[in-house]
Parts: sequence; C-alpha cells; structure tokens
Amino acid sequence: MEKGNKIRIMHNQNRRHFLKSGTTLGATLFATSALSFSYDTRDLKSKKSTDLEYRTLGKGSHSMKVSSVGLGCMGMSYHRSFIPDRSNSISVIRKAYDMGLNFFDTAEAYGPYTNEVLVGEAIKPFRKNILLCTKFGFEFQNNKMTGRLNSDPKHIRKVVEESLKRLNTDVIDLLYQHRVDPNVPMEDVAGTVKDLIREGKVKNFGLSEAGPNSIRKAHAVQPVTAIQSELSLMSRDPVSEILPVCEELGIGFVPYSPLSRAFLSGFINERTKYNPENDNRPTLPRYQPDAIKANWTIVNFLADFGNQRGYTPAQVALAWLLGLKPYVVPIPGTTKLAHLQENLWSGNLRLSTSELKEINDFMSTVTIVGSRLAASRVR
Ligand SMILES: NC(=O)c1ccc[n+]([C@@H]2O[C@H](COP(=O)([O-])OP(=O)(O)OC[C@H]3O[C@@H](n4cnc5c(N)ncnc54)[C@H](OP(=O)(O)O)[C@@H]3O)[C@@H](O)[C@H]2O)c1
Repeated sequence: MEKGNKIRIMHNQNRRHFLKSGTTLGATLFATSALSFSYDTRDLKSKKSTDLEYRTLGKGSHSMKVSSVGLGCMGMSYHRSFIPDRSNSISVIRKAYDMGLNFFDTAEAYGPYTNEVLVGEAIKPFRKNILLCTKFGFEFQNNKMTGRLNSDPKHIRKVVEESLKRLNTDVIDLLYQHRVDPNVPMEDVAGTVKDLIREGKVKNFGLSEAGPNSIRKAHAVQPVTAIQSELSLMSRDPVSEILPVCEELGIGFVPYSPLSRAFLSGFINERTKYNPENDNRPTLPRYQPDAIKANWTIVNFLADFGNQRGYTPAQVALAWLLGLKPYVVPIPGTTKLAHLQENLWSGNLRLSTSELKEINDFMSTVTIVGSRLAASRVR
C-alpha cells in the first residue's frame, strides 16, 4: 500500500503537470478552432493532416480504411455527466478531422437522437471524406429508452430513415445492430441490412456486443465489417472469445469504452461525483468507490509504465489495444481537445512484444473488482 500510495502521488503530480499543459494546449487548440469556425471544404482539402496511421476493418467490398483511432461522440450528449457547449463539441469533431481522424461513432440511442444531430452538423463540411457509423436496436418512448430491444425489420428501416435525416446525409457508412434482439432471427436482421445496402442507404454492416453464433449467422447473410464491443484492459473477454472469430471471418473489431469510461486514464477516482441524470457509471459495479480503490493498482501500473516512456496512462491503455491485432480500432470518447490529441498520438504508438508481455503479465496478477455490467444486465 505504501508503494501504491507513493506511485499514486507521483502519478497525480504528473497528471497535474500534464493537465496543466493539456489545458493550455486545449485552450490554444480551441482558440485556433474557434477562429476558423466557419469551415470551407476547399480549405480542408488543402489542410495537412497528421500522419495518423490507417487500418482496415472487414474485407473485400465491405472493408473500410479507417484511422487507427476513431472518435466516440456519445459523451458529447449522453452518459458522461457534463454536456459541454454545442460549439465546443463541434469544434472537437472538426479538429479530429483536421488531425487525420476519419472514423466517427454515434447512435440513435445517444441522447436519444441529439448526438446524431450534433454529429451530422459537425461533419457536414467534410462528410464525403469521413466514415460515419450509427446504430439501431432499442425502443424509445417520450425520449427515454423503454428498456426493450427492437430489431424488427420494419423498425430497422424506420430508424435508418430517421438517422439519415438527423445525420444530414444520404448514406450510413457502417450501420450496427446495437444489441442482439433475441426475438428477431439474426438472418432477418442481416437480410434487412443487406436490402438497405442494395438500396444505397447503408454501406456496411456491424454488430455490437454479439456473441460468436450471432456473428456467424449474420456474416453468412451479409458480410460483417466490424464488431463493436467493450474491450479494454479492464474488460478483456473478447480477446479470447471474439477476436478469433473476427480473425477467421475477416471482420474488424472496434473496442468501445477503451479507457473503461475514463478509469484507465486516472481521470476519475473513488471521490468523483457524477450527474446521475446523465451518467451510467454510478449504476455499474466497477465504478463504485470500493471497486475503484481496489482496481487502482492498474492505474498505478499504467502511470509507472508510461512515466518511463513518456506516455500517459490513457495512451498506454490505447496502445495495448492497438497491439492486440492490426484490425482493432478503438474509439475513445472525449469532449476535450487536449484529450483528443493525447488519444490520437497513441494511434502511432507501437509497443514491442516484450512491452505488451509486461502489461499482460501484470494484468494476469490482478483480479478486477466489480463486473462491467449492472447485475440486472448480466446474461
Ligand atoms: N456499442 C455500445 O454499446 C457502446 C457503449 C458505450 C460506448 N460506445 C461508444 O464508445 C465510445 C467511447 O466509450 P465511452 O465514452 O463509454 O468510454 P471511454 O472512451 O473509455 O472513456 C471516455 C471517458 O474518458 C475520458 N477521457 C477520454 N480521453 C481521455 C484522456 N486522454 N485523459 C483523460 N480522460 C479521458 C472522457 O472524458 P473527457 O470528455 O473529459 O475527455 C470520458 O469521460 C462512445 O463515445 C460511443 O461512441 C458504444
């Protein structure tokens, strides 16, 4: 504990130093962005992006060439407590594009609806140069989730029409089923998306949180481009359960919550206060104060590992994901330019085999406290 506390204090000092420079950087980036807020696509085409690497999700005519790190836009409207000013979020999305990121993630469920509208507005000036991903599969009433799944073909079609309008576009590059619906055969879901692809409304098909059987059934009807599921150092089951299926079928993998909802960055701790009206973390066992304290040894490890190499804990966590397989593309969410830049820098970090082993060896000694899902949702 003595050692853990010491590292933690060191880490917090580094974090403060980092945050201090991060805030300055963020302010600078924001100011730059605010100055050029009225975008002109001709300007954007001539802009030099970073040398962010690209990866391929899926294969053949259903493959997508995406930046090695994408942007999860959910937190700009939903589930991450503080909703920043709209112009700030638009600025973050546009800056991500400027920096070479071309892979943007949203869903009907985020808000609901408002996140798609925000993303649609932000990407408008460069829509044709980026890949836009959204999801269907839940039911809503009075702007609230009913808790019911709905992948009925008629419902999928209705959601796609509405998403296209909200996103202000005529095609969705990657359409995911948000959760497998036990009441609708996967063949029907995949068949509906196949028809939507034929009609030109959708380009590629994805599944979120699907198990191997569902993936195989879907892929047999319509080639799946990507599986999006929770994967991070804190939630590693897909490495053995899903990545082998992806590898066999030539499907990409998109880890969501790659920073374990900020935990792996050290940005939240057991004293963090959330807005219970707009955050799912207070409902999840892993974010309860005792679990955070018990799991803090992982943040200390990442801080120590990163300190020796000039990386932040978040960058180490993302680099570990990128080191898993060349078809893995994480989509960290952020509302802050400084965090965006920090996350994008990790897109080009390559940990050596021995560094990855060091992380895996450490993780194999840790028992993670608190399940990733609320007890009521564990199936
Ligand atoms: N398919 C699904 O069912 C599903 C479920 C959940 C999420 N998603 C997708 O995955 C995306 C990301 O997931 P997520 O937001 O749950 O988790 P995440 O990316 O693991 O974590 C996001 C949190 O980390 C913070 N953060 C990001 N970069 C940071 C950095 N460099 N340093 C410190 N803090 C940092 C963000 O706060 P700041 O804003 O302060 O940076 C935010 O609170 C979502 O936007 C969404 O598109 C999909």
